Amino acid sequence: MKKIAVLVTTVALAGCFASKKAEIGQADVERGAAKFPGYNVADMMEGKKLYEANCGTCHALKKPSAESEATWRAMVPPMVKKVNQNSKVLDAHAEELILKYVVTMSGR
Ligand code: HEC
Repeated sequence: MKKIAVLVTTVALAGCFASKKAEIGQADVERGAAKFPGYNVADMMEGKKLYEANCGTCHALKKPSAESEATWRAMVPPMVKKVNQNSKVLDAHAEELILKYVVTMSGR
């Protein structure tokens, strides 16, 4: 009985990791790391989370791939100011993670 429980847990965990990988692929991480030395999957998932939580409140969340790298570089700083207009929600590190995420996923 115990063996079955372990097996079920393993399969469930594997499925969970597989679905995360489907959103941020190995190729995406490698592309990001080539552009930003030291960038890794944890940074990328954190950037995605921050982006999705803060950048779809006034307008619909834009698809990172729908904008060019140049657009993201121009838009993220003023938009982070908008997010922070009433209270400081995003610090410099959070801004950097958002920028790296959308640039990595941008339509080049
Ligand atoms: C307080 C409201 C608000 C928040 C929060 C906000 N935006 Fe915006 N955003 C706007 C407004 C208003 C515009 C259109 C006018 C302008 O360009 O200033 C806009 C425009 C944009 C554009 C240009 C779209 C286009 O089609 O030209 C991008 C890209 C963008 N936002 C990204 C972001 C990102 C990334 C974040 C999170 C860091 C964010 N926004 C958070 C209000 C907001």
